[in-house]
Amino acid sequence: MWGQIPMNEIWTEKYRPKSLDDVVGQRHAVERLKAYVESRNMPHLLFTGPAGTGKTTCSLAMAKEMFGGEWKGNFMELNASDERGIDVVRGKIKEFARTAPLGGAEFKIIFMDEADALTSDAQAALRRTMEKFSKICRFILSCNYSSKIIDPIQSRCAVFRFQPVSKDDVRGFLMKIITAENVDIEEEAIEGLVHVARGDMRRAVNSLQVAASLNNRIDMDTIYQVTGMANPEEVKGMLEMALDGNFVGARDRLDEIMITYGLSGQDIIRQIHTSFFELSIDDSEKVRLMDKTGEIEFRIVEGSNERIQLEALLAYLVMMGGGSRR
Ligand SMILES: Nc1ncnc2c1ncn2[C@@H]1O[C@H](COP(=O)(O)OP(=O)(O)O)[C@@H](O)[C@H]1O
Ligand SMILES: [Mg+2]
Repeated sequence: MWGQIPMNEIWTEKYRPKSLDDVVGQRHAVERLKAYVESRNMPHLLFTGPAGTGKTTCSLAMAKEMFGGEWKGNFMELNASDERGIDVVRGKIKEFARTAPLGGAEFKIIFMDEADALTSDAQAALRRTMEKFSKICRFILSCNYSSKIIDPIQSRCAVFRFQPVSKDDVRGFLMKIITAENVDIEEEAIEGLVHVARGDMRRAVNSLQVAASLNNRIDMDTIYQVTGMANPEEVKGMLEMALDGNFVGARDRLDEIMITYGLSGQDIIRQIHTSFFELSIDDSEKVRLMDKTGEIEFRIVEGSNERIQLEALLAYLVMMGGGSRR
């Protein structure tokens, strides 16, 4: 689908904030980063947090503000999970560090994405490289989980924790794009996008663009279509039916949902998992249900028959409901 859209027409790029001030949310991180820009100096940084929350965006914005017109020559983006290995990554770093920073800057910035994809041995090698070039290069490491980064690296970096973008902030950002691009979208569909994104701005913006390319007027059905998720109300309805003891009804709903939305067993189990919080059952029962769902998800991933596994989960809900509901 992206094949036909020129790069500058991809909305996540077109609307990527160009300055730190334009970054939405992450105020805590942004304020500290601005202080680095002002002092024109920074330590190595570690950005951790979920996808689509602004880690790459903040790095780019920072480099632009720190280096001005020369920023491109002083900034390099690498992916740690480069399939050719850590030696290739180190080779590129060495090459980049060989020449002096442009425009009188004191150092260059190397942005390394997916640092948590490296093995601990590779991270140890990276750490040595960081030390070796630290006079001329500052590193920004980006990862989803800081727990996967070895201590010697963590202790040499200032750590920034990026939060999922708040619903209000996602909505606000989408509204700007909707206005700028003249998108015709129902109020409810905007809420749907905000809900599905779960704090991932990239996902929200991408879904909006795909939806806009499909229909002239975007409604809830368009949203379900593009986001590969079922209507949460229908999923909740199915679970409640099972809790009320109606196994056959719940199984019919399951069929309907899987066929209508073209979902796999894994898709649906993930969605069932997020619906538990909305069910009116005790916390202790939610815990039991989580445990059971984890087991079933594992079996499906391992290749067990997904129909049988999903029906087993509904049966479990029926048994659970029999004990606690009415
Ligand atoms: N905090 C944010 N404020 C505004 N836009 C954002 C923010 N986070 C992500 N985005 C949008 O999502 C896209 C991906 O963001 P990016 O910074 O690459 O995320 P990641 O945290 O995965 O590195 C950006 O191009 C931008 O359009
Ligand atoms: Mg990124």
